[in-house]
Amino acid sequence: MKRLKENELTPVEIVEELDKYIIGQDKAKRAVAIALRNRYRRKNLPEELRDEVAPKNIIMIGPTGVGKTEIARRLSNISGAPFIKVEATKYTEVGYVGRDVESMIRDLTNIAVNDVKKEMSEEVEGIAKERAEEDLLDILLPPISFPRQKPVGPPDANQITSDERRKSTREKFREMLRKGELEDKVIEIEVKQPKTQVLGMFAGMGLEDMDLNLSNMFGNLFPEKKKRKKVTVKEARKILEEEEKDKLIDMDKVVKVAIERVEQMGIVFLDEIDKIAQKGSTHGPDVSREGVQRDILPIVEGSTVSTKYGAVKTHHILFIAAGAFHMSKPSDLIPELQGRFPIRVELNSLTTEDLEKILTQPKNALVKQYKALLETEGVTLDFRPEAIREIAEIASFVNAQTENIGARRLHTIMELLLEDISFNAPGLKDQTIPITVEYVREKLKDVLENKDLSKYIL
Ligand SMILES: Nc1ncnc2c1ncn2[C@@H]1O[C@H](COP(=O)(O)OP(=O)(O)OP(=O)(O)O)[C@@H](O)[C@H]1O
Ligand SMILES: [Mg+2]
Repeated sequence: MKRLKENELTPVEIVEELDKYIIGQDKAKRAVAIALRNRYRRKNLPEELRDEVAPKNIIMIGPTGVGKTEIARRLSNISGAPFIKVEATKYTEVGYVGRDVESMIRDLTNIAVNDVKKEMSEEVEGIAKERAEEDLLDILLPPISFPRQKPVGPPDANQITSDERRKSTREKFREMLRKGELEDKVIEIEVKQPKTQVLGMFAGMGLEDMDLNLSNMFGNLFPEKKKRKKVTVKEARKILEEEEKDKLIDMDKVVKVAIERVEQMGIVFLDEIDKIAQKGSTHGPDVSREGVQRDILPIVEGSTVSTKYGAVKTHHILFIAAGAFHMSKPSDLIPELQGRFPIRVELNSLTTEDLEKILTQPKNALVKQYKALLETEGVTLDFRPEAIREIAEIASFVNAQTENIGARRLHTIMELLLEDISFNAPGLKDQTIPITVEYVREKLKDVLENKDLSKYIL
């Protein structure tokens, strides 16, 4: 199974990894790096102490579009930890219609189970492929059911030769299969009907949200159905491989590993926490906002949530909350919750220099993306450094003039800037197009001069 890197990366290395995607925001990067490393340290503690150490949950405070979500997302990628991003505003207080907060842990567990299952299925892929090939050959050349009773006397010569003939035909077919000569041949196979389909009649009754293992509950009521289906060899191979994989994967083990991972390394990114942090008023939706905070509290403090895979303890799950906190402050959260998020980090608004770097430096930088996209049409974009600077300046300007949406502004500007080229690309094959300051100004001039227009377009 995949080695989880949480065990290996030092805080410095974690920050280095984050640096590949996020410009600046060093304080936030350090905080998450320490939080991740602390879990590794905790694992090496003597058992009595290990259970005592609570995760140092984090609140990231910063305006929109400056990298809060991106940091959390990349963190989960580099650590291989089960990760879920949820919006605090999505939940409603227990007793009201809506999703209850415990569902975030159930969702996280589902994610972990799928991840582990995927890893294990990669491990058995080789064997599953071999078996699927045998299955295919069985279908193409159905084994003859020989009479069960033992033949009296020595096996007759005819029998042996027919056996051998079969074997060599089978090998011939195997060769044809491997050469891909039979891909389009239509055969009939038996496929298992997914139980969810049988359970479809219960959909919409709100049962999904109860998250019980319905297929187990009703498993006996609705025995597994098989259906004959006509498919090409190519499709059949896929279906058979999946079936063989399912047989090879030990689901009990998958669940055990997944729950262990969720409990020991899970990360919940709780976005828009500021929106449930309003204090004071005792009427309207605010009452239930505080209710949601009260519901979240036990999960963050450590409780046991029942999921369809079994009980999951939340004591060591790391929570990273984030919010702009324009209208409220972290101190508006209920005190018990504040105490559970001891680390506060502020993220800075992005400067023109930051935006300039964001355009070009991250592994997934926008300029790299557009270049690569147009490269597929044989068009080469040659961004001049001064032009990049100009784009960053325009982004800063528009952010200041209208609303500061951080790096997201770059997306709208780049799209407008390259719209023409993008549209005409198929006709520009083998050309190199210089993107100069003049080009940038020319393309964006109209929108920039008209403040009302830029509100809509950029
Ligand atoms: N510091 C940064 N470095 C690189 N890219 C960034 C940075 N900040 C934002 N981005 C890019 O901008 C987009 C929005 O960033 P992100 O989703 O992290 O915003 P956010 O801080 O979570 O905002 P919100 O409060 O609206 O959720 C992403 O595509 C991200 O890659
Ligand atoms: Mg976000």
